[in-house]
Amino acid sequence: MAGQGKTFKIITYGCQMNQRDSEMMADLLQAAGYEPVADEADADVIVLDTCCVREKAENKVYGKLGQIERLKSANPDLVIAVAGCMIQQPGVAAKIRQQAPYVDLLLGTHNLAELPKLVEEIRVLHQPRVAVREEEGAIVEDLPRRRARGAQAFVTITYGCNNFCTYCIVPYVRGRERSRRPEDILKEIKDLVDQGVIEVTLLGQNVNSYGRDLEEKISFAGLLTRVNAIEGLKRIRYVTSHPRDFTPRLVETISRLDKVCEHVHLPVQAGSNRILELMHRGYTREHYLELVASLRRHIPGISLTTDLIVGFPGETEEDFRETLDLVARVQFDNAFTFMYSPRKGTVAATLPGQLPLEVKKERLKRLMELQNQISLAKNEALVGQEVEVLVEGPSKTDPSRLSGRTRTNKLVIFPGDQNLTGKLVNVRLTRAQTWLLKGEISCD
Ligand code: SAH
Ligand code: SF4
Ligand code: F3S
Repeated sequence: MAGQGKTFKIITYGCQMNQRDSEMMADLLQAAGYEPVADEADADVIVLDTCCVREKAENKVYGKLGQIERLKSANPDLVIAVAGCMIQQPGVAAKIRQQAPYVDLLLGTHNLAELPKLVEEIRVLHQPRVAVREEEGAIVEDLPRRRARGAQAFVTITYGCNNFCTYCIVPYVRGRERSRRPEDILKEIKDLVDQGVIEVTLLGQNVNSYGRDLEEKISFAGLLTRVNAIEGLKRIRYVTSHPRDFTPRLVETISRLDKVCEHVHLPVQAGSNRILELMHRGYTREHYLELVASLRRHIPGISLTTDLIVGFPGETEEDFRETLDLVARVQFDNAFTFMYSPRKGTVAATLPGQLPLEVKKERLKRLMELQNQISLAKNEALVGQEVEVLVEGPSKTDPSRLSGRTRTNKLVIFPGDQNLTGKLVNVRLTRAQTWLLKGEISCD
């Protein structure tokens, strides 16, 4: 095989979509005979799977490329590939060619499956290659079969996005929304369950609109019902839900299905109706608050997390206070908070009223302070409860302990044997922090 005796390392930036893409590329390289290595310094092929959702994400990639240059000087046969969302933006391929001429391969989001073939051509011909398709092709389902990596797996249900929120680059770099056929999704999950997977996370930029583009009449609620029926599967998660498309039928369905976890990631982005409209989000704060109330009514104990942007163009202090007010009202379990970052090619980047960095920083700080208090209080309220935890392995911060997640997606750290990894255990929660809970395995 082409890659026999050769090694690779994939470094992933960005969201779960990219994590899943990186898994797919790793499977393809392994099918071609390459072996994964933990350290990029030991690799014959290095792939950066990039994100461009904010400027910071891009800067990380340029920083990494600077480090990798040294490896290339030491080993001229090293193949360096830059793949994913960044490459899909106009002008970026040329910029990388210029700033990092030692990069051998630029690979767009619709060309990832060509990775092994192109790496091989580069190794033989010693010539750089660029493969960037602008249009999304049909979904490729017949790639080499994927291997399960433990008890959890990501399963993509839709690619791309049609929403064009005015701040967001994703629809430009990922193309139009395409749903996978339910048969393909169900088969993939059944295969994973046969290999020991007990928790799946269904992925899409907007899972709620799943199926709209398919001939077969199926909604996200319908898909969940079918996934729930798979024997041996224990937990179902899904990201991301769009508040506009979260129908009453979906609320009712998830409340009824036993495997669907009691957690919804429901990005609200902003609390002011004026800003929500400028963002083109398609809902109001009132609609959002009603949806939250309905979720809490139907699913007691449900945890809610969100994404928030501060400093969108034209955001006044008053608008921002409405975001704070909404956050205080909803009492999210956790929130990912971002400073607005103008993205070339999006509508918001051309809007008047772009705010100075200091204003964004100051608002971000206030928002995070508020959310941290809420997160801690929410976790404190859980102390004393016994919860089901799926053990993920040794804790990253304290490898002598285990870490895992509750059905509500709370991170729990507790003492226990490593061979519990991949198992469900009951844990009594003993202490709360802002980002995690500590506990002890219950002995009953
Ligand atoms: N499809 C998902 C996630 C998209 S990207 C959704 O609709 O929620 C993840 C998050 O990044 C978004 O929810 C948003 O909060 C943030 N984000 C996207 N573009 C951004 C930008 N230009 N500046 C700052 N944050 C941004
Ligand atoms: Fe971006 Fe909006 Fe699509 Fe999410 S729904 S990926 S924020 S355009
Ligand atoms: Fe980033 Fe691409 Fe995901 S831009 S957030 S990696 S879809």
